[in-house]
Amino acid sequence: MKIEQIAKPVLGIETSCDETGVALFDPARGLLAHKLYSQIAMHSDYGGVVPELASRDHVRKLLPLIRETLAQAGMTTRDLGGVAYTAGPGLVGALLVGAACARALAWALEVPAVGVHHMEGHLLAPLLDPDPPQPPFVALLVSGGHSMLIEVAAIGRYRLLGDTLDDAAGEAFDKTAKLMGLPYPGGPALAKLAESGTPGRFKFARPMTDRPGLDFSFSGLKTQVLLAYQQHAADPGAKADVARGFEDAIVETLLIKCRRALAQTGDTRLVIAGGVGANRKLRAQLAAAAQREGFRVYFPRLEFCTDNGAMIALAGALRLQAGLHDDAAIKVQPRWDLESLPSIEAA
Ligand code: KG4
Ligand code: ZN
Repeated sequence: MKIEQIAKPVLGIETSCDETGVALFDPARGLLAHKLYSQIAMHSDYGGVVPELASRDHVRKLLPLIRETLAQAGMTTRDLGGVAYTAGPGLVGALLVGAACARALAWALEVPAVGVHHMEGHLLAPLLDPDPPQPPFVALLVSGGHSMLIEVAAIGRYRLLGDTLDDAAGEAFDKTAKLMGLPYPGGPALAKLAESGTPGRFKFARPMTDRPGLDFSFSGLKTQVLLAYQQHAADPGAKADVARGFEDAIVETLLIKCRRALAQTGDTRLVIAGGVGANRKLRAQLAAAAQREGFRVYFPRLEFCTDNGAMIALAGALRLQAGLHDDAAIKVQPRWDLESLPSIEAA
């Protein structure tokens, strides 16, 4: 994806949760460099993200990472045309680290800065690929904090079709994995275990698929899984089979709702974004359904499914290009409605 009007690269900064991400996106040349530092090892001792530790680690890692990213592209801060940072949703302390750094840099360099909605970043991540999807499309956003179906009429014009009533898809993976004694973050660990599981031995519910609508509810699944896991505690092979049953239930539920969203909007393009989009089973099932049923599915590269700076640099560059930058205040929004974003088109 190329943007012609901004002449200089945009620095993107992501610090909403447990990953420090930095990237340089050039309007004419695309992605120039990106670096990621994951705090997973630090949080794994606690079985989940500890917000205060996350903020402190962003403070430690962000400036070195910016230097490394600039060096990777052979540039200095003087080459920057703008700065984009995740302004929400996310952990307030973690967000403030990125926002304060981005604002200070932009002020010192006298370039515009823009706060990016983290979920818009995820949703636009497939645009980093050489063959990007054109709106209108339906996006399935499945991360640690969200499970949403969104109709993207144009870049920046989003309509929420369905949302989670309780746990997000990634949260369901993480919590279920924890119940089964798997390490944090549970999603990838549970998915790996499921690979060796027998399909069909455990059949769990496909929540809310038996009634119309596009909302999700995953919190009941973990109780079903825990019961099955406890009942078969003496059988060492059962753990992988339970994991397989759980993954199949989530994947099929997401597939049913995606199909329904496409039928409802009449769109023929589906974009998958967010950390759970890295799930191989989900990718394979959606790709097979797309081929069978005549829609097209787009996945971001695996490294751009989970949190990263590249998606923030891209989304920020699009907004800056449309003249949408914020005033110099350091503001973050731990909760932020995606539908409230100003449309890029209308700017
Ligand atoms: O988008 P992301 O990096 O962070 C948020 O914005 O939440 O998503 C992280 C989530 C975690 O819940 C993690 O367990 C899940 O994505 N995840 C996966 C896989 N890789 C990451 N879930 C299932 N299968 C995977 N392969
Ligand atoms: Zn995310």
